[in-house]
This record gives sequence, structure tokens and C-alpha cells, in this order.
Amino acid sequence: MTAMVIDGKAIAAELRKEVAKGVEQLVATGTIPPGLATVLVGVNPASQTYVRMKRKACAEVGIESFGYELPVDTSQEDIEKVVKELNADPKVHGILVQLPLPAGLDEEAVLKAISIEKDVDGFHPLNIGRLAQKGREPLFVPCTPAGCIVLLKKAGAQLEGARAVVVGRSNIVGMPAALLLVKENATVTICHSRTRDLPSVCREADVLIAAIGRPEMIRGDWIKPGAYVIDVGVNRVDDPSRKRGYRLVGDVAFEEAVEVAGAITPVPGGVGPMTIAGLLRNTLHSAQRTVA
Ligand code: GUN
Repeated sequence: MTAMVIDGKAIAAELRKEVAKGVEQLVATGTIPPGLATVLVGVNPASQTYVRMKRKACAEVGIESFGYELPVDTSQEDIEKVVKELNADPKVHGILVQLPLPAGLDEEAVLKAISIEKDVDGFHPLNIGRLAQKGREPLFVPCTPAGCIVLLKKAGAQLEGARAVVVGRSNIVGMPAALLLVKENATVTICHSRTRDLPSVCREADVLIAAIGRPEMIRGDWIKPGAYVIDVGVNRVDDPSRKRGYRLVGDVAFEEAVEVAGAITPVPGGVGPMTIAGLLRNTLHSAQRTVA
């Protein structure tokens, strides 16, 4: 059996087109365009690349972006001051503080300083808390986990009643992905570094989300035949045959898994594009809410 390969790039492109249309309609009513402020502290090369990609994607759909680049030794107080100024700026509908922050800074305090109405990453403790509670709705849902759910639905997965296994419990992906799956009425198991006999837990999964950051850790024989597999990992592995000296692989051994799964996301071109599309959609929704 060969799995259907879920084309995240194409699904994200559709979403971006819808956002562009929404922006156009909003601006046609005479209001200012949606605005996203990006806050990057320090010089982490991966973070710099992500922020650059996010700002470029904003420009492509008509969202204005405002980039703030702060030195690595910026104080806690100064970062929170920037966030508070952005909270008060009517041109800014979304505030994104790129994570991780440099060591020594209090991430939770920075995220808490963001107005929940502008928390387009969905990382404010109040938004996460609402995601975790029955009958409560967050204003924004974290972009990568939301993208995973969209991909599962587009691929035709039946989430209600499904056995879902999330490998990884990070604040950014694993935990919110598990909470979203619970909201979809799946039966969810969260696995992590202390999980006993991880392969046999994974083998129970109708839906498997891998978000651990370990190259090709999940092997083909860990996967239930016909399962939906969402690979969030983006790992560089040395590859002298490539001009840049490395290639990107996921947390799942794709070549093995594609022979067993029913549907699977590739890396790259699976979940990655959905994160940015989700951020654009959240920023548009925030701007729409200010005029509603
Ligand atoms: N670092 C890794 N992923 C993300 C994300 O989705 N948002 C932010 N702000 N930081 C990240």
C-alpha cells in the first residue's frame, strides 16, 4: 500500500488566496489594511529565516508588517515595553514574538504582556487556557497545530472517536495539537521522552502527529496500516550530495512510512506552509474583529 501524500503547499496556497481576498474586501470598505508586528530578539538564524518568510507572506496577501529586531541583550523590561506599545498601536492587529527567546528572558511574562485580542500566535496563557477548557473558545489557536487539523480534515480523516497519538508535548505544537484533537472528539494520547514502549503506543494510532524534533525517529513499523500521519518535524541532516550540504527530513522515516500509512505529509511541503497561512488568517480575523 502506498499512502496518499498530503500536499500542504497546495492547501496553504488556497488558504492564502482566501486571506488575500478577505484583505481586499476589508480594505475596500475604507479601513486600514491588517497589520502584523514581528518581534525578533537576538540572531538565531532559523528564527531570522522564519520571520523573513512570515513578513514576505504578509506582503503577498496585502497585510502590512512591522519588523522589530532587538539585540540579544535586550532587557525583559524593554521587550515588554515594545509589546505594550504595539498593544496600543491601532495599525497593529497581530503581535508575533518569535520563539525561542534568548536564554534568561521570561517567555511566559512576554507572552502574557501581549493583548489577547492581538495574540495571533495563540500562545497567551488565557488563549491556551480556553483551548484546554470545555465550552470555552480561544480568540486565536496556535498556527502549526491548527494547520495539522486542517490537513487531516482535507485528507478525509474522521477525527471523532479516532485514536490519536501526539508524540511531543511542546507548548508550541504537541500540547495545543492534543487539545485541538480533544475538541474534535478524538481519544488522545500524548507521548514524550519518558513514554514506555513508544512504538507500540504509536501502532494504536488512527491519527499520528509527530512533533519531537528528532530526524526520522518514527519508523514504518510503528505505524498502523492506513493511519493518517502528520509530520511536524523539520530537521537538517548532513548530505554532501546537496549543494548546501544538508537536506531536510521530518520526525518520521518517510520512505518506510509511506508504504504503511493511508495518508502522510511530506517534509518539506507538508505542515510548514500551513503555519504561515494560519498566521495570515489569524491576522486578518483580528483586523476584521476591530471593525465588526
Ligand atoms: N517558533 C517556532 N514556531 C513558532 C511559531 O509558530 N510562532 C512563534 N512566535 N515562534 C515560533
